[in-house]
Amino acid sequence: MVAIKAPRGVRDILPDESWKWAYVLEVASEVADLFGYREVHLPIFEDTALFARGIGDTTDVVEKEMYTFTDRSGRSLTLRPEATASMVRCYLEHGMQREKQPAKLWCSGPMFRYERPQKGRYRQFWQLDFEAIGVQDPMVDVEIVALSLELFRRLGLSNLEVMVNSVGCPRCRPTYREELKAYLAPHLDELCDSCRARFDRNPLRILDCKEEGCIEITQGAPDVVEHLCEECRSHFDQFLNGLEAIGASYRLNKRLVRGLDYYTKTAFEVTSGKLGAQNAVCGGGRYDHLAEAIGGSFTPGVGFAAGIERVILSMEEEGASFGERPSIDAFVVTAEASARPKAVSFLHELRRNGLRCDMDYAGKGMRSQLKAASSSGARFACILGSEELSRGAVAVKDLSSGKQQEFPLEKAAERIKAVLKEQAGG
Ligand code: HAM
Repeated sequence: MVAIKAPRGVRDILPDESWKWAYVLEVASEVADLFGYREVHLPIFEDTALFARGIGDTTDVVEKEMYTFTDRSGRSLTLRPEATASMVRCYLEHGMQREKQPAKLWCSGPMFRYERPQKGRYRQFWQLDFEAIGVQDPMVDVEIVALSLELFRRLGLSNLEVMVNSVGCPRCRPTYREELKAYLAPHLDELCDSCRARFDRNPLRILDCKEEGCIEITQGAPDVVEHLCEECRSHFDQFLNGLEAIGASYRLNKRLVRGLDYYTKTAFEVTSGKLGAQNAVCGGGRYDHLAEAIGGSFTPGVGFAAGIERVILSMEEEGASFGERPSIDAFVVTAEASARPKAVSFLHELRRNGLRCDMDYAGKGMRSQLKAASSSGARFACILGSEELSRGAVAVKDLSSGKQQEFPLEKAAERIKAVLKEQAGG
């Protein structure tokens, strides 16, 4: 029988990497606090209709990328491809419109999309998702961009570009859509197959196509910003002024239309110069009509999501720090097998005192245990030799300097902590 492997596009996050994830999540949580965003944990699967209506059924995500299944009661459920629709559902379901507005919420966790896997693109990937729901003020759009930039700054990312656009609203977009179609119509035969299919259903997405031929054709396409209604224009101007006020440099990108249908007005993306084709570390924007699309009343909102895998890849490329890799303080070594019960109780005592420690459970000899102590990254090896034990003591070897001292067993935890504290301070 062939050994079963993880499905294509799905990865195990092994200990060599998981500590980096923990660091990114910790920094995200600090930044969330700093900006007043409260964490929620959302379900991994939802009613399929939430995404079909919320994201839009002419989007690639809904048309081709969802993991949809029927549960035992015959209900159609979908593994979440993103978190915004769920967050708005959560807001509506829990009556958060009655609380202080905007409701500022964040979450993290895995998302699922049936995409072609490549570097930085997976079928299960993690997002950090921040949403401000309940107000239309363009300054909240500024806050959302500021939050993403502060997050990336704290993570040590600098090779970034912020791209912004406005995709209008249901009032001004139809006119733009028709103008765009009129412009594209004579070139229909030259567009790629996907764009030809998008022409009637979702022509704005053609602007976002990465095919050479389509890029060339759309070069002279009408600019969405020039077709904004007064309200969208004013919102966009205030948003850009706000970005300038916080000193954020950005590039206007009229091709930035985003892949999800719920966007209105602000659209933005942050890309990393250190990633390949999949270079968006985060993307977001405003979604003032998403709540109505899923059966709620008018509820404006704005937010963004960052892909954790891409953030980590960019951090690695930039040589950014992930903080200190967790290791252990002490490794308990026994000279004789008969000392193992003593070792277990000593280990337990050290741990109760807050020292991170471990011992060998594979029945190794003393030399191998000392080797294991070194490779464990422990600062100290605590050697329980028969002579020391007869004196009620333990030999504590500093594995970086090689210096060895003897401590009374019951004082060992305290003394080791004192040494660690002194070194951390000095
Ligand atoms: P999105 O642009 O589809 O937006 O995804 C946001 C980020 O998730 C991307 O910039 C990228 O870093 C990461 N990402 C997306 N797909 C993949 C994948 N297959 N593999 C790895 N990383 C991926 C949204 O999801 C919106 N919900 C963002 C938002 C929040 N808009 C408003 N609020």
